[in-house]
Amino acid sequence: MYTAAITGSGVFTPEHVITNDELVAAFNAHADLFNAENAEAIAAGQTQAKPHSSSDFIVAASGIERRYVLDKSGVLDPSRMYPALPERADDEPSLMAEMAADAALQALTQAGRAADDVDAVICAASNHERAYPAIAVEIQKMLDIQGFAFDMNVACSSATFGIQTAADMIRSGSIRSALVVCPEICSAHLEWRDRDCHFIFGDVATALLIERDENLQAPHFKIKSTRLATQFSNNIRNNNGFLRRTRDQMEDRRDMQFMQNGRKVFKEVLPLVSQHIAAHMDDEGVTADDLKRLWLHQANKTMNDYIGKKVLGRVPEGDEQPNILQDYANTSSAGSIIAFSKYSNDLKPGDHGLICSFGAGYSVGSVILEKAE
Ligand code: COA
Repeated sequence: MYTAAITGSGVFTPEHVITNDELVAAFNAHADLFNAENAEAIAAGQTQAKPHSSSDFIVAASGIERRYVLDKSGVLDPSRMYPALPERADDEPSLMAEMAADAALQALTQAGRAADDVDAVICAASNHERAYPAIAVEIQKMLDIQGFAFDMNVACSSATFGIQTAADMIRSGSIRSALVVCPEICSAHLEWRDRDCHFIFGDVATALLIERDENLQAPHFKIKSTRLATQFSNNIRNNNGFLRRTRDQMEDRRDMQFMQNGRKVFKEVLPLVSQHIAAHMDDEGVTADDLKRLWLHQANKTMNDYIGKKVLGRVPEGDEQPNILQDYANTSSAGSIIAFSKYSNDLKPGDHGLICSFGAGYSVGSVILEKAE
């Protein structure tokens, strides 16, 4: 049995930023349009008027201040409210593959590796641009990687499930290395016209290079242990699938995008995650004092504050539990990996850290890491 280690990471960040104020101005203009168009039905009590959104609510409820998106103009057009991302022809690279390849090249550069050092590509994300051929195989071709590639989807937990999948193959000896990429085009499966969730998501892609821990020359993170769990829930759901209507029927697309019962998610996921992490640490003999960093899923600041306090037994200090959601919003599977990528360089050899993701399914995954040189 071998040990696996994270040797490189990368983040592709789209160029367009939408601030809460810009988002709220577009939503409120959309609500005004809707209310004017439906004035009679609203007056007759047949349709509910759309209330305005507010930046203050968004920051207080989520901690999100802005988000990156692949296309800003379509999202902020009050009569459109979804990104203008033209479909690509079959002989063009897919958007997800492009984003992921950018992040993957960063991870390879950081690790001082090249494409022929990689044995497998796993594309782990919440939604895939198409059913097949796998986006991962396309990335493999774009980067000129040998071996094999496949897609997997465990919603917001895709990254940690991808890490365990890659680590297990490395531990067993079937491969020596894998790229785990999480390209998330959340803007295309978010309903920007729904006040309850229009502020939640952003776009990004992350990549991790995971290698057999043998003769590694550069600083890396040993994967000490991984743990995954799932428990069925309908509280976060997206019905988009090949048995459903096409999303061209724009007026009737609500259930084919992200839907959630946010309050229930909040209440049910917090104990699930806290208990999962506590049991994982306990079984591995890792105490709160051993943990120098918590890289948590980035959905909501209050949730992260709660989990951080539960895990450490006190309020996390400084960068012990870094949040990136104020800048990126919820980026589904990529959130904890953005936090890891941006807040891990300063750890010293022997320091422990924990990546944890959670989300639809419900699903939760945790990865205990140890910095090494
Ligand atoms: N602007 C202004 N007011 C808004 C609003 C908006 N954009 N959206 C909702 N409100 C109102 C609601 O109508 C409600 O009003 P009421 O009290 O008069 O009924 C009030 O604000 C509170 O709404 P609620 O939805 O209960 O807020 P919340 O505090 O639960 O926060 C979430 C909402 C979604 C941020 C929060 O529930 C959450 O983060 N849940 C977990 C989400 C999660 O992790 N999902 C996983 C996705 S991968």
